[in-house]
Amino acid sequence: MSKLAQHLSSHSTSMLYSPRPRIEGRITRMIGLTIEAVGIKCAVGECCYIELSAQQSVEAEVVGFSGDRIYLMPLYPIEGLQAGTRVIASSESGKVPVGMNLLGRVLNGVGKPIDGKGPLLPEAETGLAGEIINPLMREPIKQPLDVGIRTINGLLTVGRGQRMGLFAGSGVGKSVLLGMMTRFTEAEIIVVGLIGERGREVKEFIDHSLGDEGLKRSVVVASPADDSPLMRLRASQLSTRIAEYFRDQGKNVLLLMDSLTRYAQAQREIALAVGEPPATKGYPPSVFAKIPKLVERAGNGEEGGGSITAFYTVLTEGDDQQDPVADSARAILDGHVVLSRQLAEQGHYPAIDIEASISRAMPQIIDQDHLQMAMRFKQLYSKFRQNEDLINVGAYVKGSDPDTDFVIDNLPSLNAYLRQGINESFPLLQSMQQMIMVLSTPPAAEQNNQQQLHRPVTNGLQK
Ligand SMILES: Nc1ncnc2c1ncn2[C@@H]1O[C@H](COP(=O)(O)OP(=O)(O)OP(=O)(O)O)[C@@H](O)[C@H]1O
Ligand SMILES: [Mg+2]
Repeated sequence: MSKLAQHLSSHSTSMLYSPRPRIEGRITRMIGLTIEAVGIKCAVGECCYIELSAQQSVEAEVVGFSGDRIYLMPLYPIEGLQAGTRVIASSESGKVPVGMNLLGRVLNGVGKPIDGKGPLLPEAETGLAGEIINPLMREPIKQPLDVGIRTINGLLTVGRGQRMGLFAGSGVGKSVLLGMMTRFTEAEIIVVGLIGERGREVKEFIDHSLGDEGLKRSVVVASPADDSPLMRLRASQLSTRIAEYFRDQGKNVLLLMDSLTRYAQAQREIALAVGEPPATKGYPPSVFAKIPKLVERAGNGEEGGGSITAFYTVLTEGDDQQDPVADSARAILDGHVVLSRQLAEQGHYPAIDIEASISRAMPQIIDQDHLQMAMRFKQLYSKFRQNEDLINVGAYVKGSDPDTDFVIDNLPSLNAYLRQGINESFPLLQSMQQMIMVLSTPPAAEQNNQQQLHRPVTNGLQK
């Protein structure tokens, strides 16, 4: 390379990487949550500081623009804002901490610790947006992940890198189930995103559901309902970013996000405030573009790397499974676990409705015997549910259907299999063995029935 070329290339490099000059503008308007500023050039997604006084400034993100006006959304509640307030572009926007010493810590949406355990000493800082993995380079889902929940392990087996929805109304047992998974899963690292829930619940989740045992290998990112919508969005992205970091270190990560609906609602608040027109149930179209963008970041890494297995809770308000967020989530996730209010009301916990739930990756990750057994269990249970009313009024005639007879005789053991106490853990192998036992129990009536004794039995299952 000639001296001139060398000079030019070193010159252009220094131009490229020189810090962006601090540009400033003025606030002209604030309507609802949206702040309008002029005289400042910033791209969407960049950060600014709004200088409320010489000592106090609030961070805000550019969420839109129109001509030479930019629209900002503050990260924190803002008071005392006046027309003409100075806005300064920030050059180090959106850096978040990552590293092993995040384990056991509770962070807010911008990665600051809120657990009173002193400052974080992160190994590194990174941007909020992770690298997009070429879908063809991703390792396929082929190995199961033990989540410690018998019904899931046995009947809805989840694979490493699978993204599941946890669909339920309020108070049906989502948090307890997620808490149990954090304590009992075989995943090496757990990242919990508590997004837009009640503040009281955050502490409850950490103290009771997670406990010391669960917290040790977890990172919790919490942004309760009274945080700004931007903070709630950031918290969802941060929990995903932290999970990505651990995945890139080759770890098997379990990412639990409670809830995806609150994430969608935060995006709805922002989009409506900026002027996007509402569509389905008040959700602007951008919400349905943002959900897949977040969810697609979970999953397996490239061949030989780590994995992010994720559970996203989806609130089905009024237990409405047709909610637009639920619909959109169902379409892009690799399966869903539905919690039933009816079961919860009967004290049947975890209130998993096995008929309505499905794990789409299950056939690829378990052996044929296990798959057949799980299908058999579901079929038996469905048949019983179809005939339940008849049975309850005494109109079912025994002997009409061998499967229904089997369930009537073995209902306590089938139900016992589906139930699990908060402090009980059932590993994958045990879940499978117990399913074999439940399905191979000869019905009491059958023992006295010579004819039925000769019914063929394969693999412990009745045909
Ligand atoms: N496995 C279980 N065993 C016994 N009780 C349970 C179990 N799971 C949930 N419960 C009961 O259900 C209650 C509600 O559970 P949880 O707080 O997990 O619901 P949620 O769906 O997270 O509610 P919200 O929508 O309010 O966040 C718990 O306080 C507990 O009494
Ligand atoms: Mg909850």
